[in-house]
Amino acid sequence: MTEIIIQDKLLHLRNDHVSYCMYLLEGGIPAHLYFGKRLAGINPAAVLRHYELPADGSFSLQGCALDHTPHEYPAFGLGDLREGAVSVRQKDGTRSVDLRVVKVETVEGKPGLSGLPATFGSSARTLFLHMKDALIGLEATLSYTMFDDVAGVVRSVSFKNVSDSELMIERAYSLCLELPDSRYDLITLSGAWSREREMIRRPLTMGEMRVSSLKGATSLHNSNMLFLARPETTEEQGEAIGAALVYSGNFTAAVHVDSHRTSRVLLGINDVDFAWKLAPGETFQTPEAVTVYSDAGLGGMSAQFHRVCAEHLVRGKYARAPRPILLNNWEATYFGFNEEKLLKIAKTAADVGVELFVLDDGWFGHRDSDNSSLGDWYVDTKKLPQGMKHLSDQVHAMGLKFGLWFEPEMISPDSDLYRAHPDWAIHIGGREGIQQRQQLTLDLSREDVQDYVYESVARHLAEDGIDYVKWDMNRNFSNIGSALLPADRQKELPHRYMLGLYRVLEKLVSSFPEVLFESCSSGGGRFDLGMLYYMPQTWCSDNTDALCRCQIQYSTSLVFPPFAMGSHVSAVPNHQTGRMTPIETRGNVAMSGCFGYELDLNTLCTEELEAVRRQIARVKEIRQTLLYGDFHRLLSPYEGNDTAWITVSKDKNEAVFMFTRALAKSFAYPPLVRLRGLDAQKAYTVAETGESYTGAELMNLGIAVKLPWGDAASVSWTLRSN
Ligand code: GLA
Repeated sequence: MTEIIIQDKLLHLRNDHVSYCMYLLEGGIPAHLYFGKRLAGINPAAVLRHYELPADGSFSLQGCALDHTPHEYPAFGLGDLREGAVSVRQKDGTRSVDLRVVKVETVEGKPGLSGLPATFGSSARTLFLHMKDALIGLEATLSYTMFDDVAGVVRSVSFKNVSDSELMIERAYSLCLELPDSRYDLITLSGAWSREREMIRRPLTMGEMRVSSLKGATSLHNSNMLFLARPETTEEQGEAIGAALVYSGNFTAAVHVDSHRTSRVLLGINDVDFAWKLAPGETFQTPEAVTVYSDAGLGGMSAQFHRVCAEHLVRGKYARAPRPILLNNWEATYFGFNEEKLLKIAKTAADVGVELFVLDDGWFGHRDSDNSSLGDWYVDTKKLPQGMKHLSDQVHAMGLKFGLWFEPEMISPDSDLYRAHPDWAIHIGGREGIQQRQQLTLDLSREDVQDYVYESVARHLAEDGIDYVKWDMNRNFSNIGSALLPADRQKELPHRYMLGLYRVLEKLVSSFPEVLFESCSSGGGRFDLGMLYYMPQTWCSDNTDALCRCQIQYSTSLVFPPFAMGSHVSAVPNHQTGRMTPIETRGNVAMSGCFGYELDLNTLCTEELEAVRRQIARVKEIRQTLLYGDFHRLLSPYEGNDTAWITVSKDKNEAVFMFTRALAKSFAYPPLVRLRGLDAQKAYTVAETGESYTGAELMNLGIAVKLPWGDAASVSWTLRSN
C-alpha cells in the first residue's frame, strides 16, 4: 500500500518496497532527503548535516547555500552553480528561476498526461508540489506517483505562465535526483545501427557524464535511460537505481558529480534543440520519468522496470495476449516480390504453423528500391495487380493473419506527395534538403500532416483486412525547420513533432483496437517506454545474427520484458554479419521475445524445415511463459563467451532456460549454470532430458549444460514442476 506521510516540513512517500523523502526548507525550497529501501521514518538531520545545511531547516539564499542543497528541481542562475533542471527566459532576457512550494496536495491514483504517453494504475498515490516563482509569474507542479507494486517513483513537471507576458522555457527536464555520494558505476546503453544498446559500465568520476540524442528520436546510438549500480553490485546483489524517460524524442540523461562527490541525475528533453514559448495562461507538460530502486542487484532493478512495462504502460488487446508467430518477407525478398512469390512464402509458413504473414517495405508507389514513394501509400499494382485486399484475403484463407509495413512519418523527394506538398517536409527554406536513405521527414508538428499520416494508414486498416502494422522510422532529423512555425517557435519543432506523432498513434490504436502494432526504427532506434505505451512490441534490431542478438536482447532486458522485444530467426549466412549459426540457436534466442521468422522457408532443407516446425509447436506451448514470465539474466555475453537466461512463469510451475556459447571450447566440462526465480521447494523435470531436480538444487548447485558441437551452440530447455 502506498502512503504519503506529511509531517510539518517532511514529505514521505512509501510503499512496501521503497521510501522517497523530501524536506521543505525555509521559504519552501524542497530538499531531497532519500530514495531507497522503505523506511519507517526519517530524521532529516543526517542529510542536512551531510550537506552542511542548518539542522532546523532555516535557509538563506546568501553564500553558497543553494549550491550545496540537494534539490528536488534545481534552477541554474541564482546561487546553485551546478547544471539545473529548469531554465526560463523572461522578457528582460534573464533566465533565473526561483520556484518555492506554495501548496502540497495528494491524490489517489495516477492522473494521465494529456497528449503524452504516461504510466497508469489505480493502486497508487500521487503527491503534487505546487511551486511558484512570484517574481516572474511562473507556476510549476512537480508530480510524484508511487504505485503499490513498484519499488520506484514516476515523476513529471507541468508549468503554467501566470504572468502577463511571454515566458520562454529553455529547459524543462522531467527528473532531478540528488544522491548523497558518488560511489556508483554508471551503466548506459549505447550503440549504432545493428549494434543497438551495448551495455557500457564505468565508474562515476567527478565531473559530468552524459548520453543524449539530438536525432529527433531516442536513436540507435543512445537510450533514454541510465542506471547507477554500486561497484560491487551484480545481477543478484547490491544496490541499483534506474531512471528511464517515457518519451521517444531528443533527450539528455546525465550525472554530475560535484566537488563534494555528491551526484545529481538529470533526465529529460534535450534542451540543445528545444525551447517553448509560454504565452500568459498557457501550460507545458514534461514527459514522465520512471525511477526504480533495487537492493537485489541489476536483476532486481529490471524486475521493477518489467513490472512498470507490464502493469502500468502497455495497453490494449495484446498487452497480455499471446503474440502471433510471424513471418516477415523483408530479408526473404527485399523489394523484389510479386503476389505469387509472397503467397508461396506464406503458404509454406502456414504449413509449418506460422500465424501471421507480414508484408514489409516495397508494396506502394513505385518502390523498387529505397529511392522513392514514401508518402504515396497506394498499392503498387505492378507487384500486386489485384490490390492489397485480394492479397490479404488469400493470406487469411491460408489461416494466417495479415500484417503490413508502413513508414508513415517519411516522405521521398520522388513521391507524388512531395511534388504536391514540398513544404510538408521538415526543411529550411533556401537550404538544400539533406536526405538520408533518400528520404526526408514529414513535419508532424503540422495538423494537416498528422491527419494525412493518420488517413494513409487508417484507410488500409479499415479496407484491407490488416491485423498487424510494422510502424517504421528510418532517418534522423536535419534541416530542422517547419514552414508553419513562427521564428520564435522553431525550437519547439522536435517536441511538437513528438506530440503530433503521439496524437496520430493514440487515434490509430484507439480506432483499431484489434490491430497489433510493432514499433521499428531502422531496427531498435526508438526502443523506449514512450513507444511501448502505443505499441506493445518493438523490433529489437535489424541485426538478426543469433550471437549479436544475445547481446542486444540481454541489454534490452535491463528495462524491457520479453513481450516488448521483436526477435526473429533469419537465414544464414546472416545478412548483417555473414555468420553461420545453427537453426536451433537462432530459434532459441529468438523465442525469448516476440517470435517470428525473417526468411523464405522454401529455401530451407527438409531437416531445417522440420526444426522450424518443432520450434513453432514448442513456442505455441510455452509462449505464455516466454512472453509474460519473469525474466532473469544468468550469464552475460558482455563478460564472456556464454549467454544464459531463464523465464519463469508467474506461478513458478514452468520455466524456459536458454544457454548459448559463442565459440566452442575443446575438452571443456559442461558448464554448471545456477538458475534463478524458481520455487526452491518444487521439483522440476527438464522436458528435453527427462532429469528432475528441486528448485533449490537448480538455484544453488545449478544445471549442467551439455552443448552440441560447434560454434554458436545452444540449448533451450523447458522445466516443469511435477
Ligand atoms: C528498416 C527496418 C527493416 C525493414 C526495412 C525496410 O531498416 O528496420 O526491418 O523493414 O526498414 O526498408
